[in-house]
Amino acid sequence: MTDDTEIDIERLDEDAARTELARLADLLAGADAAYHTEDAPVMSDAAYDRLKRRNAAIEARFPELKRADSPSDRVGARPAEGFAKVTHAQRMMSLGNAFAPEDVSAFDTSVRKYLGMGPGTVAYTAEPKIDGLSLSLRYEQGELVQAATRGDGAVGENVTANALTIEDIPQRLTDAPDLLEVRGEVYMSHADFAALNARQAARGGKSFANPRNAAAGSLRQLDAEITRSRPLRFFAYGWGALSEPLAETQMGAIARLKALGFSTNDLTRLCKGPEELLAHYRVIEEQRATLGYDIDGVVYKVDDLALQARLGFRSTTPRWAIAHKFPAETAWTRLEAIDIQVGRTGALSPVARLTPVTVGGVVVSNATLHNEDYIAGRDSSGAPIRDGKDIRIGDWVQVYRAGDVIPKVADVDLSKRPEGAEPYIFPRKCPECGSDAIREEGDSVRRCTGGLICPAQAVEKLKHFVSRAAFDIEGLGAKQVEQFHADGWIAEPVDIFALRDRYGSGMQQLKNREGWGEKSAQNLFAAIDERRTIPLNRVIFALGIRHVGEVGAADLARHYTRWPAMIASLDAARPAMERHLKAEAAVLAERAAAAKEGRRARVTDTRAAIWAEDPPLPAGARAAWEDLVGVDGIGTTVAVALVTAFAQPAERASIDRLVAQLDIQPVEAPDTADSPVAGKTVVFTGSLEKMTRAEAKARAEALGAKVSGSVSKKTDLLVAGPGAGSKAAKAAELGIETIDEDGWLELIGAA
Ligand code: IVH
Repeated sequence: MTDDTEIDIERLDEDAARTELARLADLLAGADAAYHTEDAPVMSDAAYDRLKRRNAAIEARFPELKRADSPSDRVGARPAEGFAKVTHAQRMMSLGNAFAPEDVSAFDTSVRKYLGMGPGTVAYTAEPKIDGLSLSLRYEQGELVQAATRGDGAVGENVTANALTIEDIPQRLTDAPDLLEVRGEVYMSHADFAALNARQAARGGKSFANPRNAAAGSLRQLDAEITRSRPLRFFAYGWGALSEPLAETQMGAIARLKALGFSTNDLTRLCKGPEELLAHYRVIEEQRATLGYDIDGVVYKVDDLALQARLGFRSTTPRWAIAHKFPAETAWTRLEAIDIQVGRTGALSPVARLTPVTVGGVVVSNATLHNEDYIAGRDSSGAPIRDGKDIRIGDWVQVYRAGDVIPKVADVDLSKRPEGAEPYIFPRKCPECGSDAIREEGDSVRRCTGGLICPAQAVEKLKHFVSRAAFDIEGLGAKQVEQFHADGWIAEPVDIFALRDRYGSGMQQLKNREGWGEKSAQNLFAAIDERRTIPLNRVIFALGIRHVGEVGAADLARHYTRWPAMIASLDAARPAMERHLKAEAAVLAERAAAAKEGRRARVTDTRAAIWAEDPPLPAGARAAWEDLVGVDGIGTTVAVALVTAFAQPAERASIDRLVAQLDIQPVEAPDTADSPVAGKTVVFTGSLEKMTRAEAKARAEALGAKVSGSVSKKTDLLVAGPGAGSKAAKAAELGIETIDEDGWLELIGAA
């Protein structure tokens, strides 16, 4: 990937790397400027991308040399058609959901547990959850300089011109912090929505399905004059980057935003605990129908901003807030057919095809039936659900829809069952490839055993691969993937990266297809090339390995930091995983035998005997396995799925082919220049008194440490509170440094 004049990245020393980064920053900035201001770009997309990848690779080797004006941070320097991209100074998060009152007390409990506080000690705000789209408004010296949509949370679209047409959004603020990002929801009132749809109909234009779609469609107009003609509104409910705090509490901050001239929601209340939250939820629910705008729940937030800061964020949601959604809507209709869909892990999922019915304003014609037990009227343990009533084709069924969640079939009316309706027989063969579909013990799902030969699994894997949290390739969504797969253009992920080579710059075949032209083909290639440089966590998630979700992938990436290190470790762990599975099977057998013979099961001995069996495990195997299982958030289920996936020769070859096309970026270590624990593996044990385990872990990770659940040779530091037991003993045995909680706080400068 280097040309003749460029030095191989592996051979650069620090000085040469610094000079090279400066050269690349210069070249790329020049190329950007030429691209934007002149009609004659100075280099091809491919050359541009190659330089960007080289820059990123050097930065990955010398993170400390990354420049303040690094080209890597200029996302969307070459915007596709439409809006320019905006990287949010602070990510725009989403919210976790609560549905039942128990979820609300569980939220309060988890907040207090994290903080180590007693019942009734944390106050919350409760306010309507507006059903619109979120917007971030950036004010500098009181002047609105930028408005951006949420996008994927990290990068949104620049809609400043459009936002300036919205009356509720002040252009200028007096007495505001020098830097203030105000966040809130753009929405359309019921009256304005009805009037807009009437106008659209009169003009023969398209009408909108609901106020939220109308608001989104109106804000995202390339011509801001169209936005001006659409009556949008804005409620402020939060903030992003700030040069100084707005207040000490959420309530105070909202009052400050109101004083600055923003519309804030009058139904916002301060509540002392879960009971008061639920009481205010009922108040808001009662007013829902007469508010004049759509809301879909109530948002609860910890009021004290210092506590919010301690609680912080999970990967995509704050720990200090939750959305309590209004209950699902239901309707009755006819079940016309049951189709079986095959997912990327081979799961056979039954889908109900329904006579279309409106459920809470949305027309529903498909709903999930979960799995074969659900259709048969029992849960995974065999206990009856719906009083044991099974579901048959032709039945009169109740459909249930909650928010954006996939509708489901909830109940069946036996009095309306057609005569001669037969119990549904769940297929034993994959409807897509004909392979056997089997249910493993303890699994509620029947799976196709066809693996890579099953076209449905392949397509679903590809769709997952290009999904938002994975490769997120602009212009390559589920629909395009299906089409390309059907045409035989892409069979596995790596084929995506060969599209340009294989089909030529003109993309003759693509060009001739409806909906595609030269320009869109070129845009697609550019978008694909942009993703050749990609963070490790996204690659892990994109592989679609069973049980490895977005959060698990991020945990693994943080732990291993680099692809080669992860692969080496997973390969090394494999013989130990096999031993683990054998040992656990032996333990099960021993338990059964002991129960039969009426004696105590010898669990520890059984396990130890298997681990000690001949031939001995290769050196490092057990350590690699324990290291993996010890990654916080990764249990044995995930570990087995992961090691097994990489051990399948066909799957592994496909992964290796893919990786050869990528420049996988190591995990960006948090800014830990002067952190004493950066890169160290820390284990907490015993009880902590000044902070909870969860908070200690989050803080340690923010300082660049790895937190592990078990002590091994790799452990650098054990923080042991009172009551520490076997872990402290093991640390002593291995000669690992052990300190108490105060020592830890002192070490991280928090004492
Ligand atoms: S607070 C970090 N408050 O709901 C938390 N969000 O499902 C930021 N929303 O993306 C969100 N009303 O677009 C918050 N009163 C409210 C809201 C609200 C509507 C939206 C927002 C967010 C989504 C999450």
